[in-house]
Amino acid sequence: MAEGTARPLTTDGDRLWRSLMDMAEIGATTAGGSNRLALTDADKAGRDLFVRWCRDVGCSVEVDAIGNIFARREGVRPGAAPVLIGSHLDTQATGGRFDGVYGVLAALEVIRTLNDAGVHTEFPIEAVAWTNEEGARFAPAMMGSAVWSGAQALADAHARTDRSGCRVDEELRRIGYLGDRHCVPGPVRAAFEVHIEQGPVLERAGRQIGVVTGIQGVRWFEIGVDGTSCHAGTTPMDARRDPIRALSEFLPELHRLVDRHQPLARLTVGRLAAIPGAYNTVPKRATVGVDLRHPDAAVLDDLAAALESSVLAACERHGLSGSVRVELDCAPVSFAPECVDAVQRAADACGYHAMRMVSGAAHDSMHVARVAPTGMIFVPCEDGVSHNEAERARPEDLEAGCNVLLGAVLELR
Ligand code: GLV
Ligand code: MN
Ligand code: MN
Repeated sequence: MAEGTARPLTTDGDRLWRSLMDMAEIGATTAGGSNRLALTDADKAGRDLFVRWCRDVGCSVEVDAIGNIFARREGVRPGAAPVLIGSHLDTQATGGRFDGVYGVLAALEVIRTLNDAGVHTEFPIEAVAWTNEEGARFAPAMMGSAVWSGAQALADAHARTDRSGCRVDEELRRIGYLGDRHCVPGPVRAAFEVHIEQGPVLERAGRQIGVVTGIQGVRWFEIGVDGTSCHAGTTPMDARRDPIRALSEFLPELHRLVDRHQPLARLTVGRLAAIPGAYNTVPKRATVGVDLRHPDAAVLDDLAAALESSVLAACERHGLSGSVRVELDCAPVSFAPECVDAVQRAADACGYHAMRMVSGAAHDSMHVARVAPTGMIFVPCEDGVSHNEAERARPEDLEAGCNVLLGAVLELR
């Protein structure tokens, strides 16, 4: 709560909404969503707009070697560690108008509100836009926060390529965001990220605010199955080494496996490719991208082990050669009680109907939480729909989440 006042300081929901809609013009899709895949021209335009807005409100802006943007509002206590607030500006190719960008523009709205109210915090506040949270163009997801936190080596991230062979470092340089700030955390007082929930829990429960206590674990697997290309019309079925034979056995097995671990386990086959990809050619190779999640680290390990043996056994049965490579591995995270409590108190002070919950989606806060006390705030989105151009959120809920973000920051001493 702002010093000396009974009512909490609140943000300007209309201004936040206008900023969101202005940003949504960049990479707007015909179906009403956003396409700002990481390190594309649209991502650059979104970054440029954010940087301009941050400079307009008096922030100094720095960019680090993986392209993370830090917009800093100074505090009054010399040498105090900053509070980080933010999320990501990149989207899925068929993304919505709120996933990620809401958390970044809410951070900006917090700074605008503090400026308007003449509130000086003890500690600096840095509004952050993390690079490539989605991982939709360059795997893995959460790349900017992973490198910053030490979970991924900078050189490894720079060398990652998209499907057409473009490298991360070259794309960063091309769009002007290969920064010179050292990509390391330094002391951080605390970090907060506000985000749409991306699922149906808050809406079903009739709550406006999710006080996020942690994030479930997530692992991505790049499965490769190698066989032999041959003619679809002439090659007898018993003379083929067709990778799809293995897929048609292990994919149903994997679904049965997670069905036995309901309601918590999640399995998604989000990428599938047959190479070379012609109707009349048996593929020489098939690749399958699998996303596997569970809130319990030990269960996630067991599911991962079962996945690998199911894939390799199916390949062996058909004389194919199979490989399973882990592309992303984030263990479940529990947020710092200090930050969870600050979010809860801020929600209570505003009189919002809040509930505690674990995040089903992954967020940059997973990496941030390993190096700094971290908390997250969720607001509902319509029908829980996200990673979809039809993603919707109500202005009043976005304003509420932003008010809780501001309140949580001001709760810190
Ligand atoms: C974030 O986009 C996730 O994959 O959960
Ligand atoms: Mn997101
Ligand atoms: Mn997302």
